[in-house]
Amino acid sequence: MRIGIYGGSFDPVHDGHIALIKSALKSGFIDCVIAVPSVRNNFKLYANKLPPPYRYYMMKETVEGLGLKNVYVSDIEFGIDGVSYTAVVLKKLTSDEYISNFLMDNDVKRKKAGEQHEFFWIMGSDTLGTFETWYNPGEILNYVTLLAAVRPGDNTDVEKAKASIIKNLGGKVEIFRLDGVDCSSSEITGTGDFSKVPEPAREFIKRHALYTENTMLEGVSEEAKKQFFESAVWMYKYLGGKRLLHTLNVGYLSAHLADVFGCDKDKALIAGALHDCAKELPQEKQIELAKKYSGDLFTEKKLLHSPAGATFAKEEFGIEDKEILDAICYHTTGRGDMSLLEKIVYLADKIEPSRNYTDLTPIRTAAEVDLDAACRMTATAVKNKFISQGRDIHPMSLLMMRDLGME
Ligand SMILES: [Fe+2]
Ligand SMILES: [Fe+2]
Repeated sequence: MRIGIYGGSFDPVHDGHIALIKSALKSGFIDCVIAVPSVRNNFKLYANKLPPPYRYYMMKETVEGLGLKNVYVSDIEFGIDGVSYTAVVLKKLTSDEYISNFLMDNDVKRKKAGEQHEFFWIMGSDTLGTFETWYNPGEILNYVTLLAAVRPGDNTDVEKAKASIIKNLGGKVEIFRLDGVDCSSSEITGTGDFSKVPEPAREFIKRHALYTENTMLEGVSEEAKKQFFESAVWMYKYLGGKRLLHTLNVGYLSAHLADVFGCDKDKALIAGALHDCAKELPQEKQIELAKKYSGDLFTEKKLLHSPAGATFAKEEFGIEDKEILDAICYHTTGRGDMSLLEKIVYLADKIEPSRNYTDLTPIRTAAEVDLDAACRMTATAVKNKFISQGRDIHPMSLLMMRDLGME
């Protein structure tokens, strides 16, 4: 097959990206497109508005939602340590082993997936002019033909750029015409006008309350922001999409609540983001990790991931801060004498934007003004659920409820 590879931040994906993909497919040069959301782009390390998993899953939902045929989304950059230079990504992506497995995972028949493929790197003609300054451009050309889109009204001297690349580096360059809209992600997030964002992505953004004041992380240190992005990449290995996005949403909401109630915003972001990190580990592993943090305090299956998460975040991700680890450990049950941070993560877990198990409006409203009241409402809802299911309430939850003045 002739495979077009399209790398980008997709922060957010917009109509311009989709038009480029469609035009590339129409150009006759390629049979399919693999979109590759960036993880650690060398040009803007940690400068993306959203951590990689949001951008990856948003792209996937968009491709599926729009019913784009012969378009796939790759998570290859999640598995690359350090900066995801194009040359490094392409070396792995174009390898026989990676590409045949990837295509088969995307329902391409085994025989076709195992063919000898030809690869193209899809780019805007404006970036063609700077290509020679990229990291190892010569190596990139060993893997792919450059496939550059001429945008409407583009003044770049495309033929000149093409001739220069061929003369200086060898390799192949092809040009195709881009039909469609011109827009940019930064313009969209800057103006807040999401009309040029495809419907499935808009729905995704709304569901997770992205590109809002809460996700701008104002007042969060660069170090914590970096740790948040890295935690998202680290957890990608251990959690399915829905749960990963839930736990990251809790990070954002915890940081916001920290703002409202005067708690350390950096710690809230990290504790919230990591709170469910151990939830999909094998049960045996959870038992082992839970014991290390809290002995035999939590034995019920559904509770294990909380103390296990504290150990996991510490040993595997390197979190040493005891307040953060405790907030992870007690996020499910609460406990007596809870810290402000613990209450915030406990609450955020139950009401982050994508939660919809019941009408959460009253609790969400309370959470903006009175933390204890919101925790009381949450604890009451949990208690009622437990009673209806005939489950015992954990002694630690009873202590929390006592402290909140519930009984
Ligand atoms: Fe949890
Ligand atoms: Fe959770």
